[in-house]
Amino acid sequence: MSGAHTDLVLMEDHRRFRPLGRTIDDAAGEAYDKVARLLGLGFPGGPLIERAARDGDPSAFPLPKSDLAGRYDVSFSGLKTAVLRLVRGLEAKGPLPVADVAASFQRTINEMLAERVARAAAEFAVRTVMLGGGVAANLALREQITRRVGVPLRVPPPKLCIDNGAMIGAAAFYQLRHRTDDAPVAVRSTMPLAR
Ligand SMILES: Nc1ncnc2c1ncn2[C@@H]1O[C@H](COP(=O)(O)OP(=O)(O)OP(=O)(O)O)[C@@H](O)[C@H]1O
Ligand SMILES: [Mg+2]
Repeated sequence: MSGAHTDLVLMEDHRRFRPLGRTIDDAAGEAYDKVARLLGLGFPGGPLIERAARDGDPSAFPLPKSDLAGRYDVSFSGLKTAVLRLVRGLEAKGPLPVADVAASFQRTINEMLAERVARAAAEFAVRTVMLGGGVAANLALREQITRRVGVPLRVPPPKLCIDNGAMIGAAAFYQLRHRTDDAPVAVRSTMPLAR
């Protein structure tokens, strides 16, 4: 769950990943950033929305959750448009209740993410759920997922949720350990997670 990716992946072993679903439009972090800009909060939006939401009522404004017929894919464009329409309507009436909009948006997007994680965790009877990427730093999201899944949740400390050398090093460790020849390890900026 990052600024460019929203992927739900079943990890069967090191280097064995089964993609279950992904975003069909914006990444979760991108949606956080766009809504933050709409609310005049700045960039990067995730932490600013999270902070603003602390003073807000998450049930102040009902917002739509996309439902893609039970699949594990997710879409945030409908939610984004709904927030845009809500903000324009509220602005016409008076000062924008930023905290309430931030809290309502955060709750909705986190529920969409947590629902898919919980459904996959149950369907595949997983032993552990792991989150990564900048959005995984969101405390409310961690709490949501913890509440919904009956297995341990593992999340890196916030500074290791965003781009960092440790995750690249860990990925390289398992790649190198399983090498079957002496061929040099290819350097590719778009290396896929799963084949
Ligand atoms: N507390 C938070 N709550 C929600 N979103 C957050 C939080 N902290 C950071 N983010 C979001 O995380 C995103 C950045 O994450 P990251 O750096 O992992 O992504 P990226 O490097 O842009 O994408 P990728 O690594 O997939 O190419 C931003 O969109 C930011 O708003
Ligand atoms: Mg990154």
